[in-house]
Amino acid sequence: MTKKAWGGRFQGESLGWVEAFNASIHFDKILIEKDIEGSIAHATMLEKKGILSEDEAEQIISGLKAVMEDFNAGRMELSVQHEDIHMNVERALINKIGEVGGKLHTGRSRNDQVATDMHLYIKEQVEHIIESINSLKKTILALAEENIHVIMPGYTHLQRAQPVLFSHHIMAYFWMLQRDGERFRESLKRIDLSPLGAGAISGTTFDIDREMTADLLGFSDIYQNSMDAVSDRDYIIETLSNISLVMIHLSRLSEEIIFWMSEEANFIQLSDQFTTGSSMMPQKKNPDMAELIRGKSGRTTGALMGMLMLVKGLPLTYNKDLQEDKEGIFDAVTTVLGSLEIMNGMLETLSINEEVLEETVSEDFSNATELADYLVQKGVPFRKAHEVVGKLVLKCIHSGKYLKDLNLEEFKQHHSSIEDDIYDQLYPRTSVDRRNSRGGTGTEAVIAQMKRAEALLK
Ligand code: ARG
Repeated sequence: MTKKAWGGRFQGESLGWVEAFNASIHFDKILIEKDIEGSIAHATMLEKKGILSEDEAEQIISGLKAVMEDFNAGRMELSVQHEDIHMNVERALINKIGEVGGKLHTGRSRNDQVATDMHLYIKEQVEHIIESINSLKKTILALAEENIHVIMPGYTHLQRAQPVLFSHHIMAYFWMLQRDGERFRESLKRIDLSPLGAGAISGTTFDIDREMTADLLGFSDIYQNSMDAVSDRDYIIETLSNISLVMIHLSRLSEEIIFWMSEEANFIQLSDQFTTGSSMMPQKKNPDMAELIRGKSGRTTGALMGMLMLVKGLPLTYNKDLQEDKEGIFDAVTTVLGSLEIMNGMLETLSINEEVLEETVSEDFSNATELADYLVQKGVPFRKAHEVVGKLVLKCIHSGKYLKDLNLEEFKQHHSSIEDDIYDQLYPRTSVDRRNSRGGTGTEAVIAQMKRAEALLK
């Protein structure tokens, strides 16, 4: 039986299956690099403060580096008997350098240690997420620039509403991602805090220097309250919330892509690399990647809910419940990074069926507002114009026509002020390009929007 690091006050053997339940090593091993980084900073500080001798600190630090190398080379044995990554590393260190390895934990607890690891890990991952969001924003902007001439139906209630530029539609996602990136960046200020030196709960009697370890680890500041330091998980909740929101945005875009690629719409094609076939139906080309992103957004939101429930009602300070803070965030980080990358690839390689879109926007009633606005310009009150056009649409539906197919006489039967110039106004292109109010879908307005977006990418 291996001796436990905390085994002093215990008698009898521990039960393997209970140990397995208690252990977190199978998932917290991904923290090893951060754990060792934190320990090296701690040992460095202990030496500078005269708590460890130079020789002891040197043995500990080179021992820790050797443990890291062993791990990278697949030589480190991880065991549930040592519960988690912190104790597995300590055990490996002691095996390597002997009893002196046991001095590393002076003035420190696993409670501030695990919190330090998590802060370092999340800070790094949030920086990756921000980079991935930026790449996707660039791809969206490029797609919008390339296709500035393409008009598509704009929907409300998934009913054709008004024609819009494809660029305008896709740029809406640029701005969502812009806000997502900002949220992550702003959250860094709360993630970038060092809990190290808080001890188990109340600080330590040793003359440690928390600013020094914070500095060595690249943290901007330290937690001011040791009890807060070891029990705070707000930064995990906040990160999960930010991840969930990006995933929801990606899910909405996925849903649109799935619809655009349906045979019914046929607006776009995804490249073969981002689709899959059916095991039974030879004709199928399925948008599985988009569907997976949509599905995965459920999991990340689930992780957020799980984390909120985890801390609800937890008294200060550390409780073992908090070991459950890891799997959800680890999984959410992998999921959001993967989803951002896949979405990026999907958008980079999609092609637009321009002829289909052109036909689609000419064969619908999405120019009805145009006709109503036209009447308003002739002095008709909007409410009245709305009613006149509604009746004209009904007439068209009954006779299997669109507004552009009506002759002037038919128009005039409904309102005498309609003249020959109405036909130009009914073109989707005219309808789009007249909407140059700021933030509107007119080509000039969209170009102005893209300029703003471009400036943000610099
Ligand atoms: N594996 C533990 C966790 O992730 C480390 C902290 C354990 N602390 C303790 N007092 N049992 O939360």
